[in-house]
Amino acid sequence: ESLDLEDVGLPPFRSGRRTSKLAIVGAGAVGSTMAYAALLRGAARSVALYDINAAKVEAEALDLGHGIQFMPMAQVVGSDDIAVCADADVVMFTAGAKQKPGQSRLDLAEATIGLVRTVLPALVEVAPHAVYVMVTNPVDVVTYAALQISGLPPSQLFGSGTVLDSSRLRYLISQHTGVAVQNVHAYIAGEHGDTELPLWGSASIGSVPLLEWTGTGGRGPLTEEVRGRIAHEVVDSAYRIIEGKGATNYAVALAGSRIIEAVLKDEQRVLPVSSLLDDFYGISDVCLSVPAIVGAHGVGERLSVPLSDAELAGLRASADAVRSVARQFGF
Ligand code: LAC
Repeated sequence: ESLDLEDVGLPPFRSGRRTSKLAIVGAGAVGSTMAYAALLRGAARSVALYDINAAKVEAEALDLGHGIQFMPMAQVVGSDDIAVCADADVVMFTAGAKQKPGQSRLDLAEATIGLVRTVLPALVEVAPHAVYVMVTNPVDVVTYAALQISGLPPSQLFGSGTVLDSSRLRYLISQHTGVAVQNVHAYIAGEHGDTELPLWGSASIGSVPLLEWTGTGGRGPLTEEVRGRIAHEVVDSAYRIIEGKGATNYAVALAGSRIIEAVLKDEQRVLPVSSLLDDFYGISDVCLSVPAIVGAHGVGERLSVPLSDAELAGLRASADAVRSVARQFGF
């Protein structure tokens, strides 16, 4: 008679303990790179890729699975059956139209909202307790629409927002100052798009307020001219990359993986994700990015970051731009 593991005092092989499950909707450049980034970083023990293109999604999962030996242990599956997302703990929604050269993110609203209407209710059916992170553009409008389409509470569904833009800002500040990007703290707030704005007033380098930075190692201060150039380069980043290679994928996937880790490891990490604002400096009823606490239950407190009059005006203008597009589509 065969022995069970318990008979010899060992835990059953499949302890039945829940492992952290990530589901990614969309196996395009962003979704498949996000799966790769999350696996490399050991963000999730189980990764499910869902796409309507069966051949593509199965191929992506197979190709990723062949690399598991070189990454932290995980399992990867890919299917055109939405049941593959069942019981996910976090769902990253990356499916949708991508920007063509010169096209703004807001131009994608109609196509993406149509897709969300079709897919999101079925997702919530199979993964009702997941934290949902919208990534597809225009992410702020899409997040606002997805909240109404899904009926999920505003803590449980939010958007990747300006996590990516803030990493671009920090990178450019690091390039100018010569200080490691990990020691540069700065946020982009507002729309993940043309109306976004850097929060210079609360930025710091090491523990030195950025606006008081006098420079080091022959690198000068961040003058108004330098700050203006950097702000323009952040907004222009995606257009430039899309012109050159057709889409962005690496940095947005890494930004997504950072969000996935904050949720699956309950990190309570401060991230500028796009969430439904309710009287944030008087701004309500719109999804915008401001620094917020992200953990296992989704998005929590929005930090009351000190804002200059100009920054508040910029945030209000961003809210108006996003809200006007949402209203065009009945949200
Ligand atoms: C970008 C896309 C993800 O900013 O909107 O690269």
